[in-house]
Amino acid sequence: MLSANQPVGIFDSGIGGLTVASAVKRALPGEQIIYFGDTAHLPYGDKSTASIQAYSIKISDLLLKQRCKIILIACNSASAAAYELVKAYVGSKALVLNVIDPVIEFLATEKPGTKVGLIGTRRTISSNIYKKRVDENNLPIELESLATPLLAPMIEDGFFNNNISKALIIEYLSSPKLDGIKSLILGCTHYPLIKNEINDFFEGKVNIIDSSDIVAKALKDLLTHKSLLNNGPKLTDKFFVSDFTRSFAESTKIFFQEKVNLEHYPLWE
Ligand code: DGL
Repeated sequence: MLSANQPVGIFDSGIGGLTVASAVKRALPGEQIIYFGDTAHLPYGDKSTASIQAYSIKISDLLLKQRCKIILIACNSASAAAYELVKAYVGSKALVLNVIDPVIEFLATEKPGTKVGLIGTRRTISSNIYKKRVDENNLPIELESLATPLLAPMIEDGFFNNNISKALIIEYLSSPKLDGIKSLILGCTHYPLIKNEINDFFEGKVNIIDSSDIVAKALKDLLTHKSLLNNGPKLTDKFFVSDFTRSFAESTKIFFQEKVNLEHYPLWE
């Protein structure tokens, strides 16, 4: 039996999922967060499905050992490659939420016939998962996808709001595939950090869909529906990474909007 005072587990390939963790903290200030960033294997976007599945299962095991009531896969690449497997593996021991389904639900509010763009890692785009979900839900929108593989490593390395990020954003987003889009899904949890630059590129004329707040709201709705919202004392959040570097530790404040104490958890050693 799950109980409300158990923590919320969140994982990503690195510190990009901290954009989701930060939105979760704003939406659900009473919840304890256990975060795992698999920095030893970053980026997931260029890994095989089998590798991402193996990493996701081992991380889920760790989050179960930490008594998490829900595992939030805060990475599009892992959501695309491993959601079904993690869900089957975890069974009734915890709830599982991915970052794609809440966005699909959100897309139901788009006007029929709207052209919506999607950018993400190679793994996410080649999985075609967004298109499959759009079709399964009979959403009458036109979805056009574009892989933007250099963006996540660029952001993880601290390159944004500068000439390099600007040049890369122009290079990618000038693709004719995105001509005429009304909305753009940021299909990678790193991308909220370049949301303003993307907005500038489109001169504010395209609605930028940032999944972090959408996912945090979905999490709140799910925990409310299952009567699992914590109503007891709030315990301290914990942040683990599989490979510790000072640069990750320094960047976390930008992703999480407040200082985080990153701990090295040698999951693969
Ligand atoms: N943040 C991950 C995602 O949402 C991608 C980063 C990576 O490639 O590791 O897809």
